[in-house]
Amino acid sequence: PATTITIPVYVHVIYSTSQQNISNAQIQSQIDVLNKDFRAQNSDKNSTPSEFASLIADFNIQYSWNTNNLIRKASSKSSWGTNDAVKNSKRGGSNPVPGYLNIWVCNIGGGILGYAQFPGGSASTDGVVIGPEYFGSSALGSNFYLSAPYDLGRTATHEIGHWLNLRHIWGDGGCGVDDYVSDTPMSDGPNYGCPAYPTVRCNSSNMTMNYMDYTYDGCMYMFSTGQKERSRAIFAPGGPRADFVS
Ligand code: ARG
Ligand code: ZN
Ligand code: CA
Repeated sequence: PATTITIPVYVHVIYSTSQQNISNAQIQSQIDVLNKDFRAQNSDKNSTPSEFASLIADFNIQYSWNTNNLIRKASSKSSWGTNDAVKNSKRGGSNPVPGYLNIWVCNIGGGILGYAQFPGGSASTDGVVIGPEYFGSSALGSNFYLSAPYDLGRTATHEIGHWLNLRHIWGDGGCGVDDYVSDTPMSDGPNYGCPAYPTVRCNSSNMTMNYMDYTYDGCMYMFSTGQKERSRAIFAPGGPRADFVS
C-alpha cells in the first residue's frame, strides 16, 4: 500500500457578511470530510455499483489543520470572481502561506462553487477557492452556513482533486477527449443532479458517482485507482508537489 502523505492546510476566510465568516467547527467538518474521502472511509462509497466497486481508491492522503492555520479577514468586496484577487493582499485578499495547501473561503459569485489551480502553476496563486456555503458538512454539525444539495463537503474534495492533477471525468471535451485516467469510462460532458445508473454516454457506462463529475454532493462518493496513480505521481521526486513529502 502507498505511504500516507499528510498535507498541512491553511484556511483564509474572507467575508463581507457575518454568515460568510464561518465557524471553526464548520471548517473542521470540512477537514473531517477530506480525511474520509481521500482514504475511502466515507460510508456512502457503499452505494457504488458493483461494476465500479473494485476501482474505489484509497489515496492514502490526509489533511492536517488547526486554528493557528487560519486567517479571518473582513472585506467590503461581496464577490471575488475567479481572477485570483482573493489570493493577493494588495488586491484586498490574503497571500498564500508557503508549504501549505492554501484554501480561500469566499463568495466567488456567478453560481460558481469553487475553483482550483493544477500542479505546476505559480506559487503565488496555488491552492483552491470555495464558497463559504459549500465548505463543510451539514452531516457533521448544526447551525452551519451551508447550501443543500452542496452541503456535504464534496466541493473541496472535487477542487482538491484538481489541485492533485485530476481532470473532470469527461476530459472537458467530447467522446474521445481523455481525462488521462484509463479506468474512468469515457464521457462527453458533465452529469448533474443525481444520475440514474447506468448512465450511458460514448457507449460507456459513466462513473457518475466519481468526485470529478458535477453531481450533487450526496451522489459523488469515489475516486478510482487510476486517479490515485495520477495524483500521487505529483509527489514523486522531481514532481510538482514533491516538497510535501520531504
Ligand atoms: N468547479 C465546480 C463548480 O463550481 C465544482 C463542482 C463541485 N460539485 C459538487 N457536487 N460539490 O461548478
Ligand atoms: Zn472541476
Ligand atoms: Ca478516462
